[in-house]
Amino acid sequence: QPRVFSGIQPSGDLHLGNYLGALKRFAEMQDEGIEAIYCMVDLHAITVWQNPEDLRRSTRELCAGFIAAGIDPQKSILINQSQVPEHAQLAWIFNCVARIGWMNRMTQFKDKAGKNAEKASLGLYAYPSLMAADILIYHATHVPVGEDQKQHLELTRDIAAKFNHDYGVDFFPITEPVIEGTATRVMSLRDGTKKMSKSDPSDMSRITLTDDADSIARKFRKAKTDPEPLPDTIEGLADRPEARNLVNIYAALADKTPEQVIAEYAGQQFGRFKPALADLAVDRMAPISTEMARLMADPAEIDRILELGATRAREITAPILRKTYDIVGMVGPT
Ligand code: TYM
Repeated sequence: QPRVFSGIQPSGDLHLGNYLGALKRFAEMQDEGIEAIYCMVDLHAITVWQNPEDLRRSTRELCAGFIAAGIDPQKSILINQSQVPEHAQLAWIFNCVARIGWMNRMTQFKDKAGKNAEKASLGLYAYPSLMAADILIYHATHVPVGEDQKQHLELTRDIAAKFNHDYGVDFFPITEPVIEGTATRVMSLRDGTKKMSKSDPSDMSRITLTDDADSIARKFRKAKTDPEPLPDTIEGLADRPEARNLVNIYAALADKTPEQVIAEYAGQQFGRFKPALADLAVDRMAPISTEMARLMADPAEIDRILELGATRAREITAPILRKTYDIVGMVGPT
């Protein structure tokens, strides 16, 4: 039986990459009727320093973002990671399964830790092991994510396989990454070779769900492009990362294929295309940010939703953790 799990860090504002690569896909999968758990990963967020007040606010805001993007807390389970303690408990077991050599190959750790890896937190290093626990504590089978999470999901498969092998069981499923759609890797608006990211120092590099219509229009107008008009065919985008990125964003927002977008705008200048893109983005994002603001006016209601989510989640996670402990040989209630 398929079960979906995915998570987003409550650190900084949600951007267009998070929306197109993750949130929008989650809502589409929910409509297909698959059981799903969506998680604000606050334990992952603190692998780099977070101001406590900001973390609290970002967590609630992210919960509002999930709901505003179409996740129904009645249909899906919405949780805050630290409220379901089995995630961290299983992560410890996985810390003892995963190998240091595997962690050393994680490119996201290298990117985030920078040159001075000695100063990175131990949590940042162990991050992928907690991520594997997030998924496997539900025996989730499908994980929708953007392209940048691919390596972590491969590691999740390796951890599940090694656990099963070491203990001679067939307990944890080998999870399938779901990296689909035209926006699995939304690029920075300032540099078509870098992904759009919360940590980019330039605010002009990303569109966020809290941007108003004017800033969305300004950011797209100033987005880096080459001087050529849009090509007649999709092949014409091959060596034009910035142009390709804008076409892909348009396609994802409009629920079209990049081919359809090219057919519509073939030979047009960016002076025409960018305002159309900005209008489309405002059209799709404004209702979400309005709804987020409405939900944020009642933080107590958000907290209630998360509490209910945690209760439902623990009905799944507590037995799986107990069974894991049994397999490993830990004495406990029978
Ligand atoms: P995070 O918080 O960095 O990003 C959340 C989701 O957004 C996707 N994403 C993008 N997609 C397309 N283009 C982009 N530029 C872009 N930037 C981000 C990410 O791929 C992700 O799907 N480690 C995870 C959170 C996590 C998780 C998990 C995910 C923790 N446990 C278990 C899945 C399953 C992260 O940092 O995502």
